Amino acid sequence: MSGYMAYCRAGFEGELVKELQQEASAAGVLGYAQTQKDGGLVHYQAVDNSSMQSQLQSLSVHRLVFARQLWVHWQTLDELDVSDRISPILAACEGLPVCGELRVEYPDTTEGRELSRFCRKFTVPLRQALRGKGVLTKKEQASKPVLFAFFTHSRQVHLGVGLPENISPEPLGILRLKSPSEAPSRSTLKLDEALQLFLTSAERDQRLQPGMHGVDLGACPGGWTYQLVRRGIFVQAVDNGAMADSLMETGLVQHYSADGFKYEPRKKPVNWLVCDMVESPLRVARLMAQWLERRWCQEAIFNLKLPMKKRYESVTEARELIAEILAGHEYRLSIKHLYHDREEVTCHLSSR
Ligand SMILES: C[S@@+](CC[C@H](N)C(=O)[O-])C[C@H]1O[C@@H](n2cnc3c(N)ncnc32)[C@H](O)[C@@H]1O
Repeated sequence: MSGYMAYCRAGFEGELVKELQQEASAAGVLGYAQTQKDGGLVHYQAVDNSSMQSQLQSLSVHRLVFARQLWVHWQTLDELDVSDRISPILAACEGLPVCGELRVEYPDTTEGRELSRFCRKFTVPLRQALRGKGVLTKKEQASKPVLFAFFTHSRQVHLGVGLPENISPEPLGILRLKSPSEAPSRSTLKLDEALQLFLTSAERDQRLQPGMHGVDLGACPGGWTYQLVRRGIFVQAVDNGAMADSLMETGLVQHYSADGFKYEPRKKPVNWLVCDMVESPLRVARLMAQWLERRWCQEAIFNLKLPMKKRYESVTEARELIAEILAGHEYRLSIKHLYHDREEVTCHLSSR
């Protein structure tokens, strides 16, 4: 059996390889990784005899920091005949579980994006043919496995399957968001994406309510504060810089020109701590864990800016430091390299 295909931001293949090696072997799938520089894709080739069923169940994209998407690889078809790509794909799909949805995808790279039109057009006839063969259900079924056909160029396709609970629901694993014109910075998209990824819609309704209180460390000009304010949350915005007037005019924001590492909220705990300070990842991780440990906040979303050469190791160290500080406390920590993140990852730490 052939292991996993995982997508990441171009340039982060090395981090994803390290993570896949760690997570897949811990899950009992032994293998090695193949990748192309800046290809945005890692193929973790299994060398053991674990079945497709066990591979499908053992690893989820939600466990991985640097993966946008992850599914179990089945076969790769090279040298496809451009006059009939469908027949070999149909033949190759024999033996796969019946799937409820088809996704025809491509790498999120400059070259890969040139395939987007072809993939969109090709989806319709391929879906029809797969339905005719019984590989796909007649109607889309969200509870069934998803079939992936991933084109690296017009003559090569990787085929595979993912369980709906273990894959990203988004095309290419990318949550595309529009920058709101009223937001003072594009950074707002990071917190927007984080809130959508880390919380379900019911959790957002429950835990982001008007009248709640939040602290934003490193708040200026206010893109993150905007996400809280637009939900009616009072924000203590901490930064020596200037906050956007539009936010101050809402009456929901108090601006404190202070050092985020020394700031202490008046009334504790606040519902939310958010932090986008450009600082060393360990310093920020320590501060976040201390806020939770001291019960100054119920939950926190924060960025860790990663040093170029030790991105993966920095994430591991930050996770370990948080575990050390919060030993004996019940907490949950999720870390993700979001689509809107660049040289950074976003974390959700919660005492729930
Ligand atoms: C990336 S920007 C934040 C952008 C903001 N999240 C937004 O969406 O508009 C980082 C901010 O952190 C602030 N900062 C850095 N170190 C800080 C510290 N020790 N205390 C408070 N603010 C700090 C900087 O002044 C800067 O405005």
